Amino acid sequence: MDLSTSLLAFERETTLETPKLLSIVDNFTETYQYGLTNDHSIMIPSYVSRLPTGKEMGTYFALDLGGTNLRVAAVTLLGDGKTSVEQRIYVIPDHFKMGTAEELFDWIALITQELLESLSSKVINANNDKMFMGVTFSFPIDQTAIDRGKVMHMGKGFKVIGLEGNDPVEFLQQAYNRKGINIHISAIVNDSVGALVANAYKDQNTIISVIQGTGTNAACIVQIGSIKKKKFPPRFPEYMIINTEWSLVGADFLPFTKYDRLLDEQSDTPGFQPFEKMTSGMYLGELVRLVIVDYVENFGLFEGKLPKELGIKYNFKTTHMSDIESDLSKDCTGTLKVLTKNFDFIKNPSIEDAGIIKRIVQRFTRRSCQLQAAAIASLIKLQCPEFPEVEREIRVAIDGSIFHHYFKYSILMSKALKDIQQTKEAKKIKLVGILDGGCIGAAIIAMMYSR
Ligand code: BG6
Ligand code: GLC
Repeated sequence: MDLSTSLLAFERETTLETPKLLSIVDNFTETYQYGLTNDHSIMIPSYVSRLPTGKEMGTYFALDLGGTNLRVAAVTLLGDGKTSVEQRIYVIPDHFKMGTAEELFDWIALITQELLESLSSKVINANNDKMFMGVTFSFPIDQTAIDRGKVMHMGKGFKVIGLEGNDPVEFLQQAYNRKGINIHISAIVNDSVGALVANAYKDQNTIISVIQGTGTNAACIVQIGSIKKKKFPPRFPEYMIINTEWSLVGADFLPFTKYDRLLDEQSDTPGFQPFEKMTSGMYLGELVRLVIVDYVENFGLFEGKLPKELGIKYNFKTTHMSDIESDLSKDCTGTLKVLTKNFDFIKNPSIEDAGIIKRIVQRFTRRSCQLQAAAIASLIKLQCPEFPEVEREIRVAIDGSIFHHYFKYSILMSKALKDIQQTKEAKKIKLVGILDGGCIGAAIIAMMYSR
């Protein structure tokens, strides 16, 4: 096979026609249903069983841990669906991602102290001297109460020693106690749950949330009776938000290519989070790199010479893909610029080579949007069995760097969802961006569950 035949075969394999997507929608829905009855690693109850009205007021604290940035924030709920946020934002150094839980939480306590010192006493004393905090923890935890849970596993490059199997709330509370910080932790939630609640504060039609960033996840609302795998006390509220952990789904039905399999085999977590590995920010760039390496080694791309940076795993970044997507030139000069700016070529790639890279990037972008849209459609179907002819207005709130910053991603995702719905009614379902959902949602939940 030559390069152009191979590229055409790759494009065919990664192009998902509507019938295929509809069958993936059904696969997702079946898996969610199985998760509600049997599987404890997905469809995790959040213990958040009501939504805010938008009229709540007060200042509450939030910690948002597990996305690209760590944030500690004081969130003031203004009572009209609006919020004001004072926050400290940090990129988490690798030595904390791989260090002990005590080291990580002592560092967080230090940042919290700095935040508290910068706030006016009016903010700190807003709730009669009591300071309540909600924690958004963007990893799966087996939750046993609104403020209790054990970490199941961590992905996205985190390997904090001593955290898996233990409760992050205990570590954080102890770190605050060591520093004499008088904050009470009222709730711990997943970022997907935080995003849902944060958007519901300003829009009551929000019934689903999605995170599409470094990792991916979604939350939805289900009736307590349908969570058959867990017993709740009598007189428990009727509904609960569920953290789907959909990244784990799909090993038996997603349309993997040889590059998806290779990425998985070479990852730190083989077999884990197949859906995340096909669609999220942490992995999309690596998929492109694997195709480039194959085409250089076997089909003479870049005259058979791989720039040395591209021989290193994860060195083709998802941000490079976004930059290439934003190249609107007909002759791919923008793509050529992205390549030569970021990688050391012995001889500059040809315009034809740049065109090939652009086609590879476009295929992975569109496949990611289509699969995300299919997973969303299946959640809507779970909550509104009358899908696609849903009568009510529905908002799907989406947070995460890919949705907010990847060129045209949100537009392509909305289009993919409309294609799946195949009906005029599609306009009733809107994908809306929510910024800082982790912090705002955690603070609102801390308010709802503070005692
Ligand atoms: C942020 C949310 O905006 O997006 C976090 O506040 C969430 O809670 C994050 O984890 C996800 O995006 P990324 O790209 O940082 O992983
Ligand atoms: C990962 C985590 C999940 C989180 C998601 C988005 O998939 O397992 O809990 O919500 O990333 O941050």
